[in-house]
Amino acid sequence: MTEGRTPADGSAQLNTGVAHNARVWNYWIGGKDNYAVDQQVGEQVAGMFPVIRDIARADREFLGRAVRFLAEEHGVRQFLDIGTGLPTGDNTHEIAQRVAPDARIVYVDNDPIVLAHARALLTGTPHGRTDYIDADVHDPQAILERASGTLDFTQPVAVMMLGILNFVLDDDKARDIATRVMAAVPSGSFLVLTHPTTDDEVGGAGQVPAMEFWNKNATPPITARTGAEIMTFFEGLELLEPGLVSCSVWRAGSDSPVVVPQYGAVAVKP
Ligand SMILES: C[S@@+](CC[C@H](N)C(=O)[O-])C[C@H]1O[C@@H](n2cnc3c(N)ncnc32)[C@H](O)[C@@H]1O
Repeated sequence: MTEGRTPADGSAQLNTGVAHNARVWNYWIGGKDNYAVDQQVGEQVAGMFPVIRDIARADREFLGRAVRFLAEEHGVRQFLDIGTGLPTGDNTHEIAQRVAPDARIVYVDNDPIVLAHARALLTGTPHGRTDYIDADVHDPQAILERASGTLDFTQPVAVMMLGILNFVLDDDKARDIATRVMAAVPSGSFLVLTHPTTDDEVGGAGQVPAMEFWNKNATPPITARTGAEIMTFFEGLELLEPGLVSCSVWRAGSDSPVVVPQYGAVAVKP
């Protein structure tokens, strides 16, 4: 097994007095790596907006389907997973390396608790590689430079931005991050994205007061966007079928899952 872990230069200290997104997300998907403050805020948000647990689970299931689809049907062997979250049952490297043991995965997150649990993300196959980078999505150049130690940027990469651009509050900045990262990867690379939406046809209106509560009581601050705004993150890319849809229904086969106000899509760089 080849693995690496980039040290936490300047990473934030673990703060158990304020709810953190990585830990509350872990709470909503039924994990144990969270504190009392995360459980309290998680319950309050779920009280206002019960579908949040469905969103968190649907997002993880989308991740599984998208990684399998790209590894099996498009031969992708490199994954850059930005905004990884806490390790859970099936992480990107486990899903990808089941299909292709030589797959390389670089994880990126800036939460100190994800860094503390990063060892569980670095348990790849002997033929593959995994790395963890403690970095902020607002600095894509630093992420790309450090990821180039593990990933070969002359070969296709699946860039995974699941539930992460919603923490970049400025629309232009969020678009710029997606554009910069996709500019660094070759033709045949993919952008895999999920993002919460305000669109009411998928139940997004209820998300707004819950996010206002979150922004007063937890960290980091979050925003939801319309489908049209999220579509701009795919500029210059070609969306694969079925396009930008509730992440729960994206290639869900014959299941008919509950629609959630979290869009998911996969696009290819032509
Ligand atoms: C909603 S969770 C999503 C986790 C995983 N991608 C998934 O879809 O299940 C968002 C993750 O983004 C991380 N995050 C938030 N802001 C970030 C930033 N500025 N830079 C890097 N990671 C960030 C959080 O720590 C958290 O682990």
